[in-house]
Amino acid sequence: MSSTVIPLPRDWSPAGGEVAVPPELTVAGDGEALVAARPFVRTLEDCGAVTAVVRAEDGFLRLVTETSDDESHRITVDDDGVELRGGPQGLRWGAQTLRAMLPAACLMPGSGARAVLPRGVLHDAPAHPWRGLLIDVARHWMPVTWLRRVVDIAAFHKLNRIHLHLTDDQGWRMPVAAYPRLTTVGARRRETLVGPAPGDRYDGVPHGGAYTRAELEALVAHAREQGVTIVPEIDLPGHMVAAIAAHPEWGNHPDPVEVMTTWGISSTIINTRPGTLAALRTIVDEVMDVFDSPWIHLGGDEVPTTEWEASPEVARLMEREGIDDVRGVQGWIMDQLLDHVRRAGRTPVVWGEAMDAGVSGDVVVQAWTEPAQVERALARGHRTVASPQQHWYLNWSAAPGDDEPLGFGVGKGLATSVEDAWAYRVPDGLHGVEGALWAEYITTPEEASYHLLPRLAVVAERAWAGNACDWAGFRPRLEEQVRRYEQLGWEHRPLTGPGLRWSRTWTDPGGGPARARRRADIHG
Ligand code: ACM
Repeated sequence: MSSTVIPLPRDWSPAGGEVAVPPELTVAGDGEALVAARPFVRTLEDCGAVTAVVRAEDGFLRLVTETSDDESHRITVDDDGVELRGGPQGLRWGAQTLRAMLPAACLMPGSGARAVLPRGVLHDAPAHPWRGLLIDVARHWMPVTWLRRVVDIAAFHKLNRIHLHLTDDQGWRMPVAAYPRLTTVGARRRETLVGPAPGDRYDGVPHGGAYTRAELEALVAHAREQGVTIVPEIDLPGHMVAAIAAHPEWGNHPDPVEVMTTWGISSTIINTRPGTLAALRTIVDEVMDVFDSPWIHLGGDEVPTTEWEASPEVARLMEREGIDDVRGVQGWIMDQLLDHVRRAGRTPVVWGEAMDAGVSGDVVVQAWTEPAQVERALARGHRTVASPQQHWYLNWSAAPGDDEPLGFGVGKGLATSVEDAWAYRVPDGLHGVEGALWAEYITTPEEASYHLLPRLAVVAERAWAGNACDWAGFRPRLEEQVRRYEQLGWEHRPLTGPGLRWSRTWTDPGGGPARARRRADIHG
């Protein structure tokens, strides 16, 4: 039997037949290994296949912790039971593989399904160290309960980074003790454009929400337990309208601006004054305090320079620093903050345009505009993360029809089907790959999940297995993966069949979107 697991394991040698997991599950392994294997054990308990878990010297499930700090692991299923070997991270991915090797029915809590595993030996390791998913909580605030779900979805796909886009023109979600106005003012917009941009109809409904420090710390801890790092992004020097609405002294004009209510690129960007840079350092310090990620994303995409071109201050700065082209001002201002991140022992990450604006030193470059930007970053020797928008922006409509939920490209004949996502073949030498879920048009967790799944499975396959598999080999595994989503209760877009069909309705213990509205009221 070939493996049905997504992402494709590097090496799977089936030995024929199956082994039943006993209802009293004996487990051997140290405490840390038990934490790593918890998603597998909990799945068995939740479905009812296992009624008791007992520590034993020589268990049915034997977890062997190796000293390796890579992500490789080895699973052996034979008549003696299951042996899982690896370093702490490898054990986590091995546990996810074991979940996926169970009959799909075992993934449904309370199903009472019989748990069996195929006999054989699996050896696995990823093609890329960075396997990410961007979640945009700036355009629409999302409940933390859903972000925890996203971590679980990422871990099931062996993605190891959630890139949290915390700030943008339409909302600032990151609490900063020194600058409370960032969330009391910057986290709330008066109303939101209805339908695709550009447009002229607004809903008249305030939207807002910010996370508390405690919520973010708990999210980071939950992710760490699953082997996932939350990489925070503060997007600058553009995409800062919400911050400038809260602190007009950081902008280039004395006139107040409001948090943006529509979508697109704003020409309102931050100024280059020492006081603004000092404030940004304080913000980045708080971000580094809350998020233990070795990588800190500082944005750098889509920076119109019209305000700087008209600024005598910027002209003086260019003269003083010997900057010939105003685009170099972006490189200069970002360099100040990238150095700040490096001095704290972290590695900065930037969007592709920052590379083109001439930032210096060691950065991870996330290339998104088109595949050529990926090639350019690689040619310049950067550690490169590929997020080609035409393929892996999962907020693009999955099909051009009117029966899809609002997505990017609606009405323009643009869509990214599963096959379109699959069409991007990763070039050699990548540091990583990342799918992105931008949330201009995504207002609820159900819509987010519908856009995310199953296209995220394609990103995960390329992330872990590179181009190892062809479409004919992937498609049946994808069908099996969708059956797993159904059993897990994860909302997704069906692979076949006409029209929009939510598979489940999101029930949020925290109150979901209603809670977002309540927060908007608080901020109002
Ligand atoms: C981006 O899509 N502006 C990174």
